[in-house]
Amino acid sequence: MYSKDKMLITGGHPLAGEITVSGGKNTAVAVIPAALLCDAPCTIENLPDIDDVHALIEILETLGAKIDYVPGKYMTVDPTNAKGYHVPYKLTKRLRASYYLLGALIGRGHHAEVAYPGGCDLGSRPIDQHLKGFMALGADIDDRGGMVYAKADKLVGGDVFFDMVTVGGTINVMLAASKAEGNTIIYNAAKEPHIVDLANFLNSMGARIKGAGTDVIRIRGVQKTHACTYTVIPDQIETGTLMIAAAATRGDVTIHGCIPTHMEALTAKLLEMGVRVTENDDSIRVRPQGVQRAVNVKTQVYPGFPTDLQQPMTALLCMANGVSTVCETIFDQRFKHLDELRRMGAKIRLVDRTVLIDGVSELYGAPVTVTDLRAGAALIVAGLMAKGVTEIYETTYIDRGYERIEEKLRLLGADIRREKI
Ligand code: EPU
Repeated sequence: MYSKDKMLITGGHPLAGEITVSGGKNTAVAVIPAALLCDAPCTIENLPDIDDVHALIEILETLGAKIDYVPGKYMTVDPTNAKGYHVPYKLTKRLRASYYLLGALIGRGHHAEVAYPGGCDLGSRPIDQHLKGFMALGADIDDRGGMVYAKADKLVGGDVFFDMVTVGGTINVMLAASKAEGNTIIYNAAKEPHIVDLANFLNSMGARIKGAGTDVIRIRGVQKTHACTYTVIPDQIETGTLMIAAAATRGDVTIHGCIPTHMEALTAKLLEMGVRVTENDDSIRVRPQGVQRAVNVKTQVYPGFPTDLQQPMTALLCMANGVSTVCETIFDQRFKHLDELRRMGAKIRLVDRTVLIDGVSELYGAPVTVTDLRAGAALIVAGLMAKGVTEIYETTYIDRGYERIEEKLRLLGADIRREKI
């Protein structure tokens, strides 16, 4: 990936003011393929206008769906003439979530040919549990030449027991099972907010899913689905990134339109650090309060500390007082941001999957390169804290998942801009 621009941040400006968070990226990338399961046009609101969404539009159009998209307002997906079932690598390589086309197409027409997904390189990311789930519903799977071929004469509900908690696997089986014959039970399901959101979307088109948000999800397959309008939940990770950026710059920021209960793991850590966090029904205010203390963080499945905030949190802790540890338990190689943070003066060491951070009193602007979406968020946080100018290369990764991030940060007083390379 080669970006045509770089981001320039002059650090040291405390963020201050109010900002509204966008719709959830990881919800959007599940809900858009899920629209293929609708037997009529459906309308989705509050989608973030990000590259992952643009890539999914292209994929759905290639399959024959008609899409009317007004960024910031709505997307109407009319899948009635979507006869396609083949999604080549040139399309799937643009985003990880392209694997949801498998579940959606199997559920829709019992036939899918989808190339293995691209997306952020966070170490090995197998999809064996997804495939196991499809097979439990009666699909024949052939996995060769970088493609997954899935076909079923009849899709029949079954029991799926995941060997580990998998967000993608849970979503994919929900998609495939929604219109299967009979009942499916997913055991050891993921509980992330976007799992619940997807279940609500599918239910609003007539699916019958119960238990989303717990570790056992029950799906009674339906034959027909109907038109619906659905609003996706706010982005939990964008909210967290803004909370961390506010703390990092010792600013005073109120984030509107978020769901504070989704943020509990981060809020608890910020409070432990000595940051003031106050919550209202749909807003969170982050303010400084004396010295920020080092803390220990361990990523876990929801409601634990999200792996998607591990990298920005690591950046924040680079300037906390004392030695922090950040243990990544979900992905084995989500550490590519560490070298870049070191360029900026961070004192960090990686031991197995734990980052040891010796807080420093200053970071310095430097040229750095983004290697994955949340590494991008980490470098933005570091840039906002650092003395001098940070030049961030490979911004394409950031645009995949954060809507107008520099515009939002500028509104809060950050000195941040883009320049063509
Ligand atoms: N795993 C397997 N086999 C499988 C599925 C998963 O071994 O069949 C392993 C993975 O290798 C990983 C762990 O299980 O070690 C968890 O993976 P999971 O399936 O939960 O993650 P994912 O579906 O690949 C989604 C998000 C990620 C987010 C994780 C965890 C999307 C498109 N991706 O990934 O989001 O980090 O869940 O919450 O929703 C991001 O937004 O930056 C991002 C990477």
